[in-house]
Amino acid sequence: MSVELELLLSFLLLIVSFFFIFFFITGSSKSEKSISAHLPKSYPLIGSSFAIKANFDRRIQWTSDILQNIPSATFVLHRPMGHRQIFTGNPTNVQHILKTNFHHYQKGSFTRHTLFDFLGNGIFNADGDTWKFQRQVASHEFSNRSLRKFVETVVNTELSQRLIPILSIAAANKTVLDLQDILQRFAFDNICKIAFGYDPAYLLPSLTPAQFAEAFEESTRIISARLNRPFPIIWKIKKLFRVGSEKRLQKSMSEVRNFAMNIVKEKKEELKQNSSLESVDLLSRFLSSGISDETFVTDVVISFILAGRDTTSAALTWFFWLISKNQHVETEILKEIQEKSNVAIFEEVKDMVYTHASLCETMRLYPPVPVDTKIAVSDDVLPDGTWVKKGTRVTYHPYAMGG
Ligand code: HEM
Repeated sequence: MSVELELLLSFLLLIVSFFFIFFFITGSSKSEKSISAHLPKSYPLIGSSFAIKANFDRRIQWTSDILQNIPSATFVLHRPMGHRQIFTGNPTNVQHILKTNFHHYQKGSFTRHTLFDFLGNGIFNADGDTWKFQRQVASHEFSNRSLRKFVETVVNTELSQRLIPILSIAAANKTVLDLQDILQRFAFDNICKIAFGYDPAYLLPSLTPAQFAEAFEESTRIISARLNRPFPIIWKIKKLFRVGSEKRLQKSMSEVRNFAMNIVKEKKEELKQNSSLESVDLLSRFLSSGISDETFVTDVVISFILAGRDTTSAALTWFFWLISKNQHVETEILKEIQEKSNVAIFEEVKDMVYTHASLCETMRLYPPVPVDTKIAVSDDVLPDGTWVKKGTRVTYHPYAMGG
């Protein structure tokens, strides 16, 4: 090959390479630019504090909007002092966090320490063996037999003696009701009966406050607010000096714990007298399994009430709200109820395919747990390539995923 031809070929190769490099760089920077346009601005030391503060009251919608505008559905939120929090709505990542690599993503020491005063070693605040043990005992509560018994005894009584009469009277008198409040009371009564066989009678026609329920609500509200405090030292100082919200927290928590502890003692006595007691509640199940530490059993009960309380009522509130906006769905549900209402109550609900689907659809659009956070206990890489440093908060986002 002549020198001229070689030079010409090299020149052409150079031009073509330049063309591809230029095309690649401008192409990728365009897509990177469009991604970063959706991300909150971040600065040294303070990270995205301004954006976090500005969106604090709409943080679930805000993070959901970001995830929905990013092709990978994963982004890193830069918190002050270099702390990173990963948000993901990517199903493969979620499967990795909750299933495939489950043991690497735990509640972690920060959450555990923050919630310990109220939740102690209850399942919501436990990892490892304590968590596993509670999960195993509690899983029996969700067996077909237990659920059937629960629906036929507890839920049916609460429905026929409380919820339906209250709604019927309001309908007859054309009174306006706060349905969310009614459903919260309904869920609270049910979950207390299943958790420790106690009826707080929160859903009564007078709709008056019930001490245990109010104290539980106050404790939950203040303890969860601790998690969002940018400077945890502040709640710790308030706790030390027993002032402000921490003083109220101490009061409401001790009401809840004393109350629950008394029930634990009573139930223990009952079981001593009659070891073959046929109870549906979780407390009896734990006590019968040989656990006698009253503080631990109280922790178990508190976590369980917390788990079932707002989730159930939020799902039901959104369900009725959506039905009120979708007349054709209401018609189909009523039709199904009429067709299926002459069999036993448990079979009845099991076969209601359309109603079941409507509930699932409600929870897709408005998940009762819209976001959930875990802590990485070691370095990891998510399936989409996101690098996770040990100790990072990793949040999966059911609300963003269902939208
Ligand atoms: C619509 C109703 C409900 C929804 C949407 C819901 C959703 C959830 C979610 C998302 C979690 C976190 C899972 C995880 O981090 O791996 C969870 C945990 C839990 N839920 Fe529910 N839940 C509901 C009702 C209930 C009820 C009625 C009970 C009890 C009777 C209950 C008991 C629990 C328990 C014990 C945990 C802790 C599991 C753990 O840490 O391993 N849930 N729930």
